[in-house]
Amino acid sequence: MNRSSNDPRRLTRNMDRVSISRREMLKAGLAVATTTIMPHSVLAQASGELLTRMVPSTGVKLPIIGIGTNRFRTGDPVWTARLRDTLSAFSRLGGKVIDTAPSYGDSEQAIGALLADTGLRERIFLATKLDRDSIADGRQRLAASFAALGSRRLDLVQLHNLRGAETLLPLLREQQAAGAIGHIGITSSNDSQYADMEAIMRRERLDFIQVDYAVGNRGAGERLLPLAADRGMAVLVNLPFGRNLPFGRGAQFRAVSGRRLPGWADDIDCQSWAQVFLKYVGAHPAVTCAIPGSTQVAHVEDNLGAARGRLPDARMRRTIASYFDAIVDG
Ligand SMILES: NC(=O)c1ccc[n+]([C@@H]2O[C@H](COP(=O)([O-])OP(=O)(O)OC[C@H]3O[C@@H](n4cnc5c(N)ncnc54)[C@H](OP(=O)(O)O)[C@@H]3O)[C@@H](O)[C@H]2O)c1
Repeated sequence: MNRSSNDPRRLTRNMDRVSISRREMLKAGLAVATTTIMPHSVLAQASGELLTRMVPSTGVKLPIIGIGTNRFRTGDPVWTARLRDTLSAFSRLGGKVIDTAPSYGDSEQAIGALLADTGLRERIFLATKLDRDSIADGRQRLAASFAALGSRRLDLVQLHNLRGAETLLPLLREQQAAGAIGHIGITSSNDSQYADMEAIMRRERLDFIQVDYAVGNRGAGERLLPLAADRGMAVLVNLPFGRNLPFGRGAQFRAVSGRRLPGWADDIDCQSWAQVFLKYVGAHPAVTCAIPGSTQVAHVEDNLGAARGRLPDARMRRTIASYFDAIVDG
């Protein structure tokens, strides 16, 4: 079997920690470390190249923007053609991380078919989830994911919304040891699970966590993101366009509707509000990759644009947050 460049077996396993300090970030080899700690006006990243971060446990390098696919479906040929174009553009522009789950309708089947059709599998870091309680049920569900995705190896399997965290980690570790799974993790998108998530992160060795985090939803930044950095866990960010505002999911777009980008957006090479929102998330030193959901080429182009150019430094991130809070409060 060919080993992809993402295969952790080809990579060193001696990085057990991500830290927020400059020295330690450099030591860990975080590819965007300088962009997050230098003044935002200083650094210009080579155009065309996507900014990447390393998975601390394996050294795999991933672009800081991926794609969420909870609206991917099979069946309608027009929709399928649109999704094929979306994934092709995503990969052509350098995107790698695709996140799906067996509970997203038949998203796994849709992605499996598209990856087979386009021949893109080896270029993709394929992440899915598991949502069962017992080892027997988990094994069955996992086998169905491998079949649906048409892959003998999955780059990341996450326990969806912490389900099975007490029972299924041994199964995931067994599959990881056998080389069928590259990385293991847990997900949440709900503050009510943060305390449980934190306890699991303190107790278990995990390669990844996935959590909701956005300029309008900063709760995960208080404890979970620093803890992930301390524990050497990579972080995928779901719902990077917000959720907890009065407007519901994707809330941030509605909050800024009709507003021109502020002058400071130029200083961080943002051409759209989506890029401001994604760069806010991607510039957090603990974040490995944000996974905005998208089903159209124009959005993929926009979103991957947030993985290029200058990222906001800590001061600029505070400016973005204050600007946004004022809109919501006002
Ligand atoms: N607990 C969990 O594990 C959990 C929970 C929630 C989500 N997730 C993961 O996170 C991913 C993201 O969540 P989500 O898809 O629900 O919500 P989201 O990323 O916050 O928003 C997706 C919406 O934003 C639109 N959009 C994307 N890029 C845009 C742009 N540049 N400008 C304007 N609109 C844009 C999309 O439209 P188009 O489709 O038209 O592009 C779609 O309607 C999911 O797909 C899933 O993989 C995981």
